[in-house]
Amino acid sequence: MKKLKTGILGLDSLLDGGFNEHSATILVGSAGTGKTTMALQFLRKGLETGSDAIYITLEESRAQIMEEAKSMGWEDIGTYVDKGSLVFLEAGGKDLADFIREELPQFVTEWEGSKARIVIDPLTPVIWAHENKYEQRSLISELFKQTKRVGTVFSTVEEHGTTGEMTGSETIIPMYLADTVVHLNVLGMGDLQRSIKITKSRQSWHSEGGHPYRFVLGLGFVVDTSAMDGKRPAKLDIKLKQKAFQEINSEHIKRIVNLLENADLGDMKPERIINMLIDDYKVPQ
Ligand SMILES: Nc1ncnc2c1ncn2[C@@H]1O[C@H](COP(=O)(O)OP(=O)(O)OP(=O)(O)O)[C@@H](O)[C@H]1O
Ligand SMILES: [Mg+2]
Repeated sequence: MKKLKTGILGLDSLLDGGFNEHSATILVGSAGTGKTTMALQFLRKGLETGSDAIYITLEESRAQIMEEAKSMGWEDIGTYVDKGSLVFLEAGGKDLADFIREELPQFVTEWEGSKARIVIDPLTPVIWAHENKYEQRSLISELFKQTKRVGTVFSTVEEHGTTGEMTGSETIIPMYLADTVVHLNVLGMGDLQRSIKITKSRQSWHSEGGHPYRFVLGLGFVVDTSAMDGKRPAKLDIKLKQKAFQEINSEHIKRIVNLLENADLGDMKPERIINMLIDDYKVPQ
């Protein structure tokens, strides 16, 4: 089974190397937990390694998503759109049953065999499109079936409440349709404790525990896979910056390493971040 690097630092090691190719992942999290950020990182990783990327947005506009991407340090997103390697399908406001059963299959036929990365963000409107549970499942099943023909699928589901439990019938989703299920949880009111947990991963080992994560300007969503030692790290020093520049020759990396200089890394060690970044980029896929 071929593994695809997720593009989210730290996550691959929780998934034995990444997502399986042609699998479908559901990421569950409440508002602002980082679903769109992860989705964008997943697509970016594919684009950088020569794959195409398809962003199916069922709520926000393409312009909104592109602004979010830029604010996280992905300023060159427009160049991928111009090249045609990143495509947006805006289904907001459409009849979703028509979109999934008629429009999507036509699109898929044109893209078949392209090994793209596909994001569906968020999947929630499909769950809400029908009260009938059978119809909901049938639509989601069809959506995954169609999109998996084109590549590897990453979808998000909004969860209400902060406990990580499924609350209310509107968020009961058919997890068995997904190959991998990931939960984002936030605890606390002041100093937020964010954690990520893999609850299912078909045909792959996965970490069983919860792992802290944070947003780092330039990198986006980063999972802390180290044991917390409670010490505050030194700032990113010039030697670490030079090390990154020597090992990875990429304008994007230069930009984000420069941003890292002023980023709040919390308890994460700058050296660990730089080593993960180098590891992530040095081996071509
Ligand atoms: N430019 C930025 N700088 C620092 N942190 C940011 C930036 N942009 C986003 N974030 C962090 O990322 C989080 C939002 O992430 P994101 O939009 O991916 O969440 P989401 O789960 O998709 O939310 P929603 O359910 O509303 O769509 C914010 O809560 C914030 O903590
Ligand atoms: Mg979002």
